[in-house]
Amino acid sequence: MNRTEELIQKDINHLWHPFTQMKLWPEEPPLIIEKGDKNWLIDTDGNRYFDGVSSLWVTVHGHNHPRIKAAIKDQLERLDHSTLLGLSHPLAVLLAARLAEIAPGDLKWSFYSESGSTAVEIGLKIAYQHWQQVGQTQRKTFVALENAYHGDTIGSVSVGGIDLFHKVYGPLLFDVHRLPQPHCRACRLGLKYPECDLACANALDDILEKHGPEVCALVVEPMMQGAAGMVAQPKGYLTRLYEIAQKHDILFMADEVATGFGRTGKMFACELEGIEPDIMCMGKGITGGTLPLAATMANDRVYNAFLGDFDEFKTFFHGHTYTGNPLACAAALASLELFSENRVLENLAASIDHLEKGLAKIAALKHVVEIRRQGMMVGIELALDKEADEPYEASERMGHKVIMAARKHGVIIRPLGDTVILMPPLSSTLEELDLLLAATEKAISEVTETA
Ligand SMILES: Cc1ncc(COP(=O)(O)O)c(C=O)c1O
Repeated sequence: MNRTEELIQKDINHLWHPFTQMKLWPEEPPLIIEKGDKNWLIDTDGNRYFDGVSSLWVTVHGHNHPRIKAAIKDQLERLDHSTLLGLSHPLAVLLAARLAEIAPGDLKWSFYSESGSTAVEIGLKIAYQHWQQVGQTQRKTFVALENAYHGDTIGSVSVGGIDLFHKVYGPLLFDVHRLPQPHCRACRLGLKYPECDLACANALDDILEKHGPEVCALVVEPMMQGAAGMVAQPKGYLTRLYEIAQKHDILFMADEVATGFGRTGKMFACELEGIEPDIMCMGKGITGGTLPLAATMANDRVYNAFLGDFDEFKTFFHGHTYTGNPLACAAALASLELFSENRVLENLAASIDHLEKGLAKIAALKHVVEIRRQGMMVGIELALDKEADEPYEASERMGHKVIMAARKHGVIIRPLGDTVILMPPLSSTLEELDLLLAATEKAISEVTETA
């Protein structure tokens, strides 16, 4: 057995992979990635693949960026870890101050954790406890969107709405009011775009007219519902939700775990509509995609509810062992410096434009029923019959087949069901975007036209 074969054998024998039917896993030996080089991943046999989903939506400036590496190494020379419980450290402080500068509106306070799920979990607990401590103890529930995805811990699953992932946990979850998803071809209100979008947003008003005084917060992935299959919200939708939330005086909690750090073309998606959330969750791209770190930000309104005398016990009794890990904070600060020095957001407009134009060819394919895009986030939905909008049988695993075919063309992508996701690193060159688009087009044609 060579080294790759040995690793594959051990993987098959011992490693339980996320979101993976392990019974089928041994049938398609895994690629074992051992190196990163800018926007490319390299396997144990030396094959190079363009990272078309930014290693699950995290890579921002490319892999192993020398500046981020140096910042982590430099921090490691000084301090590997120290707790934020009862102590502080310079980079946790500097990062919190920097996040307050770049976050929308008056978000000022950062609470660190390690993943998007925990950032959301923390946001939910903060929203809930805030109301308990300002005397509105009847506020015990949340409003969230159909098909929402906010992570895999029990609180974030409660506000999540993807039956395939979440239904089985029903008895463990708290109740949430569900808002219909906008721009959904199978609109449950039976409306067509664009009336549908306005009606979907206005549904929040109906819910809050009835249940407003019991609601802590509206939880929403702004502008693009990622794991739902890249469901883009139309212009004005988020603004309408925001206005209604304000009218009923509930907290607005934005989950920017996927959309944050440039993915939509702005630093945060909320900026696209001038939304100023009370609570905002961030993760994924915060460290440029190098180390696990997340932050839940709050404004003064929320934060002040936690202030009091010691024996009032208004403290936020929450904190993870590795909260605000110094190495991760070093990576995050270096990544934010790169954003400014390389004018990443300013330069992104050309890449987004290029991506949009290049997608036109894919949109014309016989089995591509819809392409949804926001900045560098793309969902390409496949269907058996485009005209009749008839999906493939789930058992055909068309999305999976397409991404496996794309590997043969040197590109790593991932599907969400039969929606093929493209989310290239922000540092992708125009040539690399062309390669990603060409490989995706070829893979879709090969798989769908021979099926
Ligand atoms: C919008 C959103 N929120 C939360 C999460 C959960 O993040 P993590 O996987 O880091 O727990 C994700 C992950 O995809 C996400 O897209």
